Amino acid sequence: MATSKQRTLRAIASVTAIAVSAAVLVTGSYEISYERIEENHQARLLRTLHQVLDPASHDNELTQNRRAVRDLKLLGSSEPMDVFIATREGRPIAALISSVAPRGYSGPIHLLTGIAVDGTVTGVRVTSHSETPGLGDVIEIEKSGWILSFDGTSLLSPPLDGWAAGQDGGQFDAITGATVTPRAVIDGVKNTLLYFQRHKDTLFTEPSGSSSLAGETADD
Ligand SMILES: Cc1cc2nc3c(=O)[nH]c(=O)nc-3n(C[C@H](O)[C@H](O)[C@H](O)COP(=O)(O)O)c2cc1C
Repeated sequence: MATSKQRTLRAIASVTAIAVSAAVLVTGSYEISYERIEENHQARLLRTLHQVLDPASHDNELTQNRRAVRDLKLLGSSEPMDVFIATREGRPIAALISSVAPRGYSGPIHLLTGIAVDGTVTGVRVTSHSETPGLGDVIEIEKSGWILSFDGTSLLSPPLDGWAAGQDGGQFDAITGATVTPRAVIDGVKNTLLYFQRHKDTLFTEPSGSSSLAGETADD
């Protein structure tokens, strides 16, 4: 026959065991959920990156080859911007640069620009914006093909004075009813190309996965 002290001890032991099991379960499921969320995030990021760069053109883990750079004037934000470096057989193929076009009609427009080593644009996508539905939002690939007009361009083609919308005397198509939005995006892509031209060597020679602020300029 167990004494009352033994019964109390057993009860405490049972409660402790239940509490420990619950804690282990909660921690375990949190870790599994966290890993799933992280995997989903990486997969979504890679899908976006592959919209501006042909997946067949590189053989490295793009999402792992990431660094942060900062240039208020050319990348449009005082925040660090992500740059992903694509390589093939160890040699650089392209840089995928996040930047901000600060002067959208309704605020900043976030861009991702793929630039091949020779300075040619491999693709541009708007990753977020607040432009007006039915007007400025045609910069989204889901709404129109306007953003594809940057494919194959460079700072030489068109020449610098051609980096403007048609109504401003430039070589990019005008958007009906919206002149502010295309101006902002065209300037944003041009400035990203200027950033690449200025910092290309550092971007490609930094150690893989470095998170230092490569390309940070003295005038930021
Ligand atoms: C409610 C509303 C929303 C607008 N949204 C945009 C927009 O998203 N992008 C844009 O460029 N212009 C937008 N516009 C139009 C601009 O105000 C401007 O009239 C247009 O870009 C032409 O500019 P312009 O005076 O240089 O020709 C909007 C106008 C209104 C009234």
